[in-house]
Amino acid sequence: MNGPGADSVLLQARGVTKRFPGVVANDDITLEVHRARVHCLLGENGAGKSTLADLFYGVHEPDEGVIELRGEPIHMVSPRDAIAAGIGMVRQHFELVTPMSVLENVVIGTRGEAKVDLRAARDRLGELCDLYGVEVDLDTPVGDLAVGQQQWVEILKALYLGCEVLILDEPTAVLTPEGIERLFATLRRMASEGLTIVLITHKLHEVMEISDDVTVLRRGRVVRTSLTSEVTMADLTRMMVGRDVDLAIDVAETSRGDLVLDVSGLDVATESGRGSLKQVSLQVHEREILGIAGVSGNGQDALFDVLVGMSSADAGRILVDAKDVAELSPADRLEIGIASVPADRIHQGLMMDFRISENLILGRQRSGRYRRRGWLNQASIAQFADESVTDFEIAAPSPSHVTRVLSGGNLQKIVMARELAGQPRLLVVHQPTRGLDIGATEYVRRRLVEERDRGAAILLISEDLDELLNLSSRIAVMFDGRIVGEVDRRDATIDRIGMWMAGVSGVPGEALA
Ligand SMILES: Nc1ncnc2c1ncn2[C@@H]1O[C@H](COP(=O)(O)OP(=O)(O)O)[C@@H](O)[C@H]1O
Ligand SMILES: [Mg+2]
Repeated sequence: MNGPGADSVLLQARGVTKRFPGVVANDDITLEVHRARVHCLLGENGAGKSTLADLFYGVHEPDEGVIELRGEPIHMVSPRDAIAAGIGMVRQHFELVTPMSVLENVVIGTRGEAKVDLRAARDRLGELCDLYGVEVDLDTPVGDLAVGQQQWVEILKALYLGCEVLILDEPTAVLTPEGIERLFATLRRMASEGLTIVLITHKLHEVMEISDDVTVLRRGRVVRTSLTSEVTMADLTRMMVGRDVDLAIDVAETSRGDLVLDVSGLDVATESGRGSLKQVSLQVHEREILGIAGVSGNGQDALFDVLVGMSSADAGRILVDAKDVAELSPADRLEIGIASVPADRIHQGLMMDFRISENLILGRQRSGRYRRRGWLNQASIAQFADESVTDFEIAAPSPSHVTRVLSGGNLQKIVMARELAGQPRLLVVHQPTRGLDIGATEYVRRRLVEERDRGAAILLISEDLDELLNLSSRIAVMFDGRIVGEVDRRDATIDRIGMWMAGVSGVPGEALA
């Protein structure tokens, strides 16, 4: 199959390098984006995707190399220059004025013009929405919209400003599966109308689903640019993770021990119905990691909450060491050895304005370890904090520092240090490495395997297939609130799991066997 010709190059980077203190975020990047195509930038967290997008959008200037648009070098000192040149971008953090309506945000929020013809603007926006199939009510205050809807406002802003190339930085992170479908349909339509789309993602299946071209970035460098039709998910995985990268840690097989967690027939209804649990049954043994795969929004949140005691089940049983824990509070569950690492470590796992040492014992104040004659034992808390900071390599000036100042990786290490301290019998972890840099990711994964080897039963809920394939003893896949498939890691393939994640049951390639 032929790629696009050289004459269709719209945007390109030539030998672009961007350094931040202590890190080369983009290292000699050369890349061509062709007109009227969807081009994915794929890479792990920290690979340099957002930095490259920011260079294309004039947020940063390259330290070396040039950005070219329509074959000419373009020098940008701010997004204003990018917009004027026809480059639009939807960044990960939106820049919207929430009390204003969609229309006002698009029009006033973008052009510093003294007088704006709102009627003409409304007509123009209506045309754009029709052309690309965008559905947003122009008069709704942006603050009343869900985050996924707000993203459409950012997209409209870029279109209204007349962008020829639209860059979207991890847009699916704020969308439901249906929302993703809608976005992708719209992006395809935009490309067929002549717009050029650069879509940033770390999800392999999104690349396969939407893109014409894909460039894989790893540690700030381009691994390769390919036609998407000419690569497989396995190829991309290899390029993204890299054989030489430590992320795929060495996980020895263990023989599992006694049954620890025994869940059967669990139903949990949610208000919207979305993300509820339907007849979920699963088992996790000592020295075993059961991975739960699935596209986000298919019941993983409800599963986590019901297992740690944040919500209760409508039907079914949760046994831990043959004891029914359904009626136990989160604190009581902790007491019997159920520890947890929530996906939202900032809002659920930590008190950001507390000291690091305080977060290290959060929820453990009742524990005998930190008490003496009924009082909190400051000396043992301080000792534990010092040990944790050393053991978990937490980069902080001191344990008495406020937690807020730490990076994502260090925040997660605090949660892990706290949760692992009691040598839990059962550990329930949700997205433990999302948003972490490569070093912290590797560290967290290694600790999980060490816990497994110590004897813990671990339930690992993750949207990162590489992580699941690397760490799990078995992998179960959730779709629409159900476990739709389960497979031993030795028999697991990305294709097989990917099909289950998409809601297709059966085993690909085995129909004829
Ligand atoms: N403004 C910044 N200041 C310092 N370091 C940064 C900044 N932006 C990104 N980095 C670092 O550059 C590297 C690449 O980051 P980024 O481009 O955000 O990766 P990605 O979007 O692929 O996750 C990371 O190590 C990150 O910590
Ligand atoms: Mg990014």
